[in-house]
Amino acid sequence: MAHVAIVGVGAIGGALAALLEVTGRHQITLCTRRPLPQLTVKTPEGIVIVRANNVTDPALAEPVDWVLVATKTYDALAAAAWFPALCKGNTPVAVVQNGVEHRERFAPYLNNQRILPVIIDCPVERQADGIVHQRGVAQMKVETGALGGEFAALFSGSNGQIELTDDFISAAWRKLCINSAGALSALTAKPAGVMRDEAMAEIALGIVVECVAVGRAEGAHLDDSIAQEVVDGYRAQPPDSINSMLADRLALRPMEIDARNGVIVRKGESHGIKTPFNRMAVALLRMLGETSRSQ
Ligand SMILES: NC(=O)c1ccc[n+]([C@@H]2O[C@H](COP(=O)([O-])OP(=O)(O)OC[C@H]3O[C@@H](n4cnc5c(N)ncnc54)[C@H](OP(=O)(O)O)[C@@H]3O)[C@@H](O)[C@H]2O)c1
Repeated sequence: MAHVAIVGVGAIGGALAALLEVTGRHQITLCTRRPLPQLTVKTPEGIVIVRANNVTDPALAEPVDWVLVATKTYDALAAAAWFPALCKGNTPVAVVQNGVEHRERFAPYLNNQRILPVIIDCPVERQADGIVHQRGVAQMKVETGALGGEFAALFSGSNGQIELTDDFISAAWRKLCINSAGALSALTAKPAGVMRDEAMAEIALGIVVECVAVGRAEGAHLDDSIAQEVVDGYRAQPPDSINSMLADRLALRPMEIDARNGVIVRKGESHGIKTPFNRMAVALLRMLGETSRSQ
């Protein structure tokens, strides 16, 4: 049994809470910005009602055994406000977010040894506060090691799939290759079917080729074939599939522009690699974000 706090109970936080709930072993605390009277998660196996404490004030949180952070990447500073109360001594913090900078993002607030970066693939959306719809299995990747093993053990007995990998950096950059191309959906306000257009697919290839070059410079092992595989993957999705960046744009929420495309530009600069496709995507997305928020 472990006491696990989840900071950020949206789509991913809700899916993680349901996985922990079905193990039947853990005490769960949901850390949210608004009261969450109940959390119901529709999973492929049926409906899970999560029995949990809910805390809305970081000052009132109690120390726990594990913290899982599932906010958007741009909410790191606000998420960190929970750590002083939740983390006593060596409490590990799993950062379950997209991107390749899990450690950098939380290094100002936590001992690096206690941060566990997690890559997650899980088709899930929040339908309303406290109602989450998980449409498929949750697959996670973590670094091989003691913390990764403890994290995986938290979910044993659930149907979450957790892979321990010796090459986390390649796994994270591979996922970023997929996410970086997703910018085109957000830019055009069109779902995955947009990649069936040849001109759009060519731009997507350019975005991913840059991601591969920068990822390799960062130490990731990425095949040349990835760019075409990413485009083929989007084309194989139902044409009306909406990625989370497009969902954020449509809901007038901030988008994870920096974590998904900005990082390619920033890290590219540090290696002297030019990234014009991603640079243009970032500039256009930022302008879109500013325009939609001011409307
Ligand atoms: N959804 C997916 O299918 C999916 C798949 C793979 C990876 N990811 C990644 O997983 C991460 C989480 O994404 P998501 O889709 O779950 O986002 P989400 O549905 O927007 O949920 C994020 C939650 O964090 C909460 N939050 C923000 N700041 C907080 C704070 N200071 N204290 C407590 N709660 C706070 C938000 O609360 P409010 O309701 O108050 O805004 C929201 O409920 C992202 O990095 C995303 O890219 C998502």
